[in-house]
Amino acid sequence: MNLLNSPLGDFTLNRFPLRKKAMLRAWDAADEYLLHYLAENKLLQDDTSLLIVNDGFGGLSIPLNKFQPVVISDSYLSTQAILLNAQNNNIDDGVITIIDSLLTPGSTLNVRSVTGNHVVLIKVPKSLAMLEDQLHRIRPLLDEQSVIVAAAMTKHIHLSTLALFEKIIGPTKTSLARKKSRLIFSQYDGSLKVANNPYPKSCVLPYKLDDVDIKINNHAAVFSQEKLDAGARFFIENIPIEKKYKTIVDLGCGNGILGLMAAIKNPLAKIIFTDESYMAVESSIQNFLSVFEDSREAEFLQTDCLRGVADNSVSLILCNPPFHQDHAINDNVAWQMFLESRAALENKGELWVIGNRHLAYHAKLKKLFGNAEVVVSNKKFVIVKAIKN
Ligand SMILES: C[S@@+](CC[C@H](N)C(=O)[O-])C[C@H]1O[C@@H](n2cnc3c(N)ncnc32)[C@H](O)[C@@H]1O
Repeated sequence: MNLLNSPLGDFTLNRFPLRKKAMLRAWDAADEYLLHYLAENKLLQDDTSLLIVNDGFGGLSIPLNKFQPVVISDSYLSTQAILLNAQNNNIDDGVITIIDSLLTPGSTLNVRSVTGNHVVLIKVPKSLAMLEDQLHRIRPLLDEQSVIVAAAMTKHIHLSTLALFEKIIGPTKTSLARKKSRLIFSQYDGSLKVANNPYPKSCVLPYKLDDVDIKINNHAAVFSQEKLDAGARFFIENIPIEKKYKTIVDLGCGNGILGLMAAIKNPLAKIIFTDESYMAVESSIQNFLSVFEDSREAEFLQTDCLRGVADNSVSLILCNPPFHQDHAINDNVAWQMFLESRAALENKGELWVIGNRHLAYHAKLKKLFGNAEVVVSNKKFVIVKAIKN
């Protein structure tokens, strides 16, 4: 289940976090296709400078470690998986360099040889906005000699995906499908007139603070960047206000909108923002600072759910859980968030969760906490509260 047979050798790969009944492999057919393509076409030499964008759990960087890749990642889970998989496969520290998704192009890319060829591998992310932002960020690193190959499962490659490569990199074509996956080949065109990167984007909230508009900035990876998500809006309208809330966590904070509004409504509380996405945490920091500057205490953690938040320390947790992890749709993360919330809450602490009606979070919370109450609902969303006893 976790042994990847590749043309570069066999590697043991696990996802992060490791789950007892892991149903999903740490790599997909698109990773395998890409590895075979690179080997069959002898595209990698000892002096190749290799950049990998969005390596999921090490499915590319681990087999390709001997080329000392630089990996660009927005995800804490991916980063941890790559580090652990490197250890498990006896790959020395520092062989794989991981940098965050807001890299300034060129500043950190370890070009090992100016004479070697440059190969850029891209796993197509779920979000088109993220792909657009990433292509803009890597374009300045490319030249006519660069080899650019992207990979994804066929169902995740759309005309709009290819249009972005055409618009930002240059002429683009796809391979035949293999095991329901496909490769995308893009050729850098230096003469292409490329528009500016439209990210980060901003939107004005339908609320004011002391009669002043609140403007929110969103990096490309952030959930619902162009307007306030309908669920978040309903949640904000119902954020509780209590003097007893000393510490409030915005769990899976995205742009931090829930924590920000909770801070405004509960002026004495300390707010902790957590998200596994680097861009989400950076957006939250920016948005919090733009309202409070440094007048208000807050903590920002790029982490897995509530890792790093002490047990029995939190009065209120606000959560709009994700229902997918990259392309995989499941409720593992929501369940993990609820479980870790129970540990992080102090006695009588409250977890407030919003979800679409059909997600039935009420039943899950009741099972875990022994209680769950619908605070408010509308046609689409339900807000459920569970109390730690
Ligand atoms: C539905 S969005 C909610 C964003 C924001 N709170 C809102 O209401 O607009 C879910 C968020 O959970 C984050 N997330 C997904 N998996 C996570 C994990 N394992 N740990 C922490 N955050 C995670 C995603 O990056 C995303 O920002």
